[in-house]
Amino acid sequence: MNTVRVPASRSYEVKIGSGLLQSLGAEAARITKGRVLVVTDENVAPLYLAAAYRSLHEAGLGVCTISLPAGEATKSPEYYLKLLNLLAEKQFTRSDLLVALGGGVIGDLTGFVAATYLRGVPLIQVPTTLLSMVDSSVGGKTAIDLPTGKNLVGAFYQPSLVLCDIDSLNTLPEEVFSDGCAEVIKTAILFDRELFAHLQERGKDFDREYVISACVRHKRDVVCADEFDRGERQKLNLGHTIAHGIEKESGYLISHGRAVAAGTAMMARAYCKEKAAVVALLQQFNLPVTTEFSAPTLAIAALADKKRSGDTVTLVVPHAIGDCRLEKVPVSDLEAVIQRGY
Ligand code: GLY
Repeated sequence: MNTVRVPASRSYEVKIGSGLLQSLGAEAARITKGRVLVVTDENVAPLYLAAAYRSLHEAGLGVCTISLPAGEATKSPEYYLKLLNLLAEKQFTRSDLLVALGGGVIGDLTGFVAATYLRGVPLIQVPTTLLSMVDSSVGGKTAIDLPTGKNLVGAFYQPSLVLCDIDSLNTLPEEVFSDGCAEVIKTAILFDRELFAHLQERGKDFDREYVISACVRHKRDVVCADEFDRGERQKLNLGHTIAHGIEKESGYLISHGRAVAAGTAMMARAYCKEKAAVVALLQQFNLPVTTEFSAPTLAIAALADKKRSGDTVTLVVPHAIGDCRLEKVPVSDLEAVIQRGY
C-alpha cells in the first residue's frame, strides 16, 4: 500500500492499495464515533456496498446507506436536496460522517453535500473508478450540474481521507477503465516522463499501485500549489477546452475521458515536439485521437466555456512531455489553434 499525504487547507491521506475497502470501518472510526451515511450508485451497490456496510458495522458505527441512479443526471439539484433532506430527517450532526462510494458523479455530489450540510461534515472518498482515483476524489473540487451546464454549483471542500482500493478496478467496464486511462496519460504528459515510459512499455497492463500513486502525487503537488484553482491547477485541464466542445457537441454521448484523449492529441499535434509519441500512446490505449467536429464548431463551444476571460482564453500548451505551460491565446486565434490539431 502507498500513502500520499495532501497538506491542503485540511491535511489528509490518500491510501492506495489492494483490499482497502475492508479497512473502511477502522478508518471511519478514527474520524467519527457517531453515524455514517454511505452514498453510492446502482452500479456500485451490488458490488461493494455490502462490504462497506460490514466493515463500518463491525467497527461499531451506525450505518445508513443510499443508492442513487448511476450517471451524470444524478449530479443534480434534485438529488442534492434529496441527500440534504435525508441527513436532516435522520438528524445527522457535524460529528457524523459521509462516505462517497463510487465514481466521479457520486464523489462530486456527496462532496458538495458534505461541504454544505450544517456548513460542513466530514467526508471519506472511496473512489471505485480509475478516473476518480487519479483525479476527482483528490483535491476537494465538489459540484453539481445545472440544466445550463456542468459543475456550475460547487465548493472546494477537502475530504478527511481518500481510500483507493485498486481491486475495485477489476469490475470496471472496459470503456470506463479507458476513460480513466486518458486522465492518466494526461498526467504523464503534464509532469512525468518516467510514467509516460511505463505506460508505453506496459499498455493497459500497467502497475496500478505505481501509476495511481504517481498520479495522486502529481495532483497533490498541483493542489497544494493552487488549491483554489487560480493558476497552476488549471494545468490539469490539458486537452479539456477542446474536450468540453466535443462532449457538448455530441450531446454528451462521447464520454469525458474519450473527449479528453482527443483534445490532448489535438493539442499535441498543434504544439508538441513529441506529438507522434503522444498520439501513439493514446492509440495504444484504444483512445480517440481526433474528432468529427469542425474547428469553428469547437471554437464556438469552447468560447461558451467558463474558462474564457475577456478577449483571451487560457490553454494548457504541451511543448514536450513534462513541459506544459499555461498560455493565454486571443479569442480570435482559437479556431486556428484547433485547426492545427487535426
Ligand atoms: N479535475 C481538475 C481539478 O481537480 O482541478
